Amino acid sequence: MTNHHIALIPGDGIGAEVLPPARQVLDAVGTRHGFALRYTSYDDWSCARYLREGAMMPEDGIDLLRDKDAILLGAVGRPDVPDHVSLWGLLIPIRRSFRQYVNLRPVRVFEGVESPVRGALAGEVDFVVVRENVEGEYSEAGGRINRGLDDEMAVQEAVFTRAGVTRVLDYAFGLAGRRRGTLTSATKSNGIVHTMPFWDQLVAERAAHHPGVAWEQEHIDALAAKFVLDPARFDVVVGSNLFGDILSDLAAAVAGSIGMAPAANLNPERAFPSMFEPVHGSAPDIAGRGIANPLGAIWSAAMMLDHLGHPRAARDITDAIAAVLAGTDVRTRDLGGTASTAEFTDALLARL
Ligand code: NAI
Ligand code: MG
Repeated sequence: MTNHHIALIPGDGIGAEVLPPARQVLDAVGTRHGFALRYTSYDDWSCARYLREGAMMPEDGIDLLRDKDAILLGAVGRPDVPDHVSLWGLLIPIRRSFRQYVNLRPVRVFEGVESPVRGALAGEVDFVVVRENVEGEYSEAGGRINRGLDDEMAVQEAVFTRAGVTRVLDYAFGLAGRRRGTLTSATKSNGIVHTMPFWDQLVAERAAHHPGVAWEQEHIDALAAKFVLDPARFDVVVGSNLFGDILSDLAAAVAGSIGMAPAANLNPERAFPSMFEPVHGSAPDIAGRGIANPLGAIWSAAMMLDHLGHPRAARDITDAIAAVLAGTDVRTRDLGGTASTAEFTDALLARL
């Protein structure tokens, strides 16, 4: 029996409420598909720890994760801790140390879930956003001078490397080739005159290596409008760190609720563990009430199984999600229902 060792990082707020359901679902499919998961949970890697000890995770945190087969994370963030502290103290070090340069976010409108967008229909909207995850606009290069003075200023440098852009584009083209064969690149080379023309040039270069994939590029502003007006037209959408971040939240909302949206931070070479996490944050407005939608975490867990070499088990989970949504009216509040996190999870486990 294959055995995988998983690191769990529940984090803050609803992060800690959605990981136990994900684990229940994982264990249920593992039994059926003949693999076992062993967990090590890092319960206090969180904002609470930061307030107590001044760091989100211990100094050797990255090393503790290194030998795990994958990482499943809930969410981090708390109103009394600045968001850049929680992000740069935990998520970003993990993504960068483990070269998780692909952030993969599937978007799908399920039957039984009403999209806030009139034209976004089940069975038609089914695409993936591939976000560059370790460089680009989210860089450490820059600084702030003359703090508090009239001439105070801040500079933030975007960093785009040939190697970094090429590898994420190759992943996106490869994925498009295994899906419906269409790739859309998000750009803004009319306004951002150095990095974005470079990005566009590399897209054209990599396209030549993937002749089976049809591709187009769209300026990010027009693309955002098309996500709302015609979401069914997309298959694989690739964007820089910032563009991909914004597009994937928009896409999650188009699909029905950010509470359902999953994400994978992948190291495609598998030299390091990859990390799986719902797109949503710690939702302090609903934390502690047991009403969070666990689907984002559960679907992320399915992506983890796919990455670990269990595509059929992953498919069982997404099929069960589809069946519960299409065949019952059990819904959490964000999807217009009244079910608690536990009630929804029970309904899903019953389907499995
Ligand atoms: P958020 O995703 O936590 O919440 C946005 C809205 O969606 C809220 O009204 C919330 O109640 C609702 N929502 C989110 N997930 C839900 C779920 N599973 N079920 C039902 N409703 C859900 O984003 P927000 O409010 O911008 O950020 C809150 C905190 O989370 C901040 O500290 C932020 O930095 C952090 N954050 C962390 C992320 C991570 O750990 N990867 C990602 C995004 C935000
Ligand atoms: Mg985001």
